Amino acid sequence: MKRTFIAASCLVVFLITTDTLAQDPPQPLELPTGTMTLMVPEGSQWQAKRSPVNFPHSLHFGFSCKDCHHTWDGASPVKSCGTSGCHENFWAPLPGAASKTKSNIKSLTGAFHKACRDCHRNELNVQKAEGIKEIVTGPIDCDGCHPNPHSEIENSEARLDVPLGNLVIRPPEGVEAKKAAVNFPHGQHFEFACQTCHHDWDGESEVESCMSCHEELEPPAGRNIKNPENIMYYLAAYHTACLDCHRDTTKQRKAAIKAAAKNGKTLTAKDLPKAGPLGCTACHSES
Ligand code: HEC
Ligand code: HEC
Ligand code: HEC
Ligand code: HEC
Ligand code: HEC
Ligand code: HEC
Ligand code: HEC
Repeated sequence: MKRTFIAASCLVVFLITTDTLAQDPPQPLELPTGTMTLMVPEGSQWQAKRSPVNFPHSLHFGFSCKDCHHTWDGASPVKSCGTSGCHENFWAPLPGAASKTKSNIKSLTGAFHKACRDCHRNELNVQKAEGIKEIVTGPIDCDGCHPNPHSEIENSEARLDVPLGNLVIRPPEGVEAKKAAVNFPHGQHFEFACQTCHHDWDGESEVESCMSCHEELEPPAGRNIKNPENIMYYLAAYHTACLDCHRDTTKQRKAAIKAAAKNGKTLTAKDLPKAGPLGCTACHSES
């Protein structure tokens, strides 16, 4: 028995190593920053009735990419909204003029109006309900997005390289590591807004590494890393950012299962979005 177990685990190790060796890191994502102009696509039959829309992409990075790119997996190239099979009709077909499956997908104009205007309206309502005085949201009126006369067409050329796949995070120089380095699947975290972690990023400039600011090698205020005075100690910054959210997502899953049980429904762990791991070796896994 023992023997087969050892043999099997050797095989697993072997498979894993060759697999990681064979995999090249994925190409970084080229993220367009700045403003882009959304307009009727070239070659469309539609005659524009309104001016094109200047859309400040980077001003929206306080939200998750997936709020808009809702089919993106955080790894593949980002498809444009009007890709064939998606919102490929610019305007809704006349009733009965398209097959049922096709007319179930919103037209591009419908999709934009729903995604853009609904969120702007929703933000207004949420902030009002919270009693916030200076409401920060985007335009809801037609002229806010389609100004008359229309503004200059802008298509920023600026791009930012965003690494996908696994990032290996190592302690800073001068620290003798007690644990293996950390394997961090960056793209698996893009359901969250970039600024959840890159809390100082403006959506346009180069992204600074956490350790360029959180550079202290020892906790200055005693060993408790939960003490806010220790937050510039690199380990306190990472463990607070990574573990607090993993703990929260674990709690949310437990709460959802409990709430369902209360309503007489069974919800299993498999029905829910995954939580982040908390065990040391789940993160400290780089051999
Ligand atoms: C508020 C909505 C919104 C958010 C949030 C958003 N985007 Fe976009 N993004 C768009 C729109 C609209 C376009 C233009 C799409 C088109 O041409 O169909 C676009 C275009 C892009 C493109 C170019 C796609 C192409 O056609 O070449 C990439 C890449 C991209 N976004 C990545 C991201 C990433 C990564 C994030 C998160 C940091 C993000 N976007 C956040 C709405 C958004
Ligand atoms: C998930 C929510 C959300 C979605 C989706 C969204 N917006 Fe916004 N938008 C905002 C918020 C919040 C602001 C205010 C941001 C700020 O000023 O910091 C804003 C601001 C704007 C502005 C004003 C910029 C300025 O300089 O004042 C424009 C224009 C805009 N959005 C257009 C769009 C368009 C076009 C789309 C769809 C492609 C879109 N938005 C989708 C939330 C959203
Ligand atoms: C939050 C931004 C936003 C608001 C507010 C908005 N639109 Fe749009 N609209 C868009 C976007 C983005 C498109 C697709 C790009 C384009 O063609 O201009 C679009 C497309 C259109 C189109 C098809 C293209 C054209 O020019 O014929 C019409 C018509 C239109 N909108 C009318 C309206 C009207 C009427 C209102 C007010 C009731 C309105 N929109 C409010 C963002 C907006
Ligand atoms: C869950 C936290 C988290 C989220 C969410 C996140 N990142 Fe990161 N990102 C990191 C960490 C950690 C690194 C590794 C560098 C470090 O340790 O400072 C990193 C590295 C990067 C780098 C390379 C920086 C360098 O030093 O060269 C870029 C660029 C970047 N992220 C952009 C983004 C963008 C854009 C988004 C949103 C689509 C995003 N990140 C979402 C945590 C996150
Ligand atoms: C430009 C410098 C800078 C960068 C880059 C930076 N931080 Fe911070 N961070 C700070 C400062 C200063 C504070 C304390 C004051 C504050 O909260 O803004 C802080 C606070 C924090 C806190 C405590 C905030 C809270 O809500 O309790 C955490 C956690 C944190 N950073 C993690 C990170 C992580 C993870 C990264 C990289 C993805 C990062 N930081 C990148 C400067 C930075
Ligand atoms: C805002 C919440 C949040 C933050 C911050 C966060 N994570 Fe996660 N993490 C998650 C969630 C949710 C998952 C499960 C996602 C999935 O597997 O689809 C996850 C999954 C993981 C996994 C397991 C991936 C797998 O394939 O099983 C690792 C490893 C991980 N995170 C490391 C980190 C590290 C390291 C940091 C800090 C740099 C971090 N996370 C910060 C939410 C977060
Ligand atoms: C969610 C991911 C995550 C989990 C879980 C996690 N860590 Fe970490 N830890 C990190 C990151 C990121 C760093 C910073 C990179 C580094 O120093 O390796 C770090 C750094 C450290 C360091 C300082 C560097 C070193 O190797 O000496 C120690 C010690 C440490 N962690 C111990 C632990 C212990 C013990 C556990 C389990 C109780 C644990 N970590 C669980 C992400 C995690």
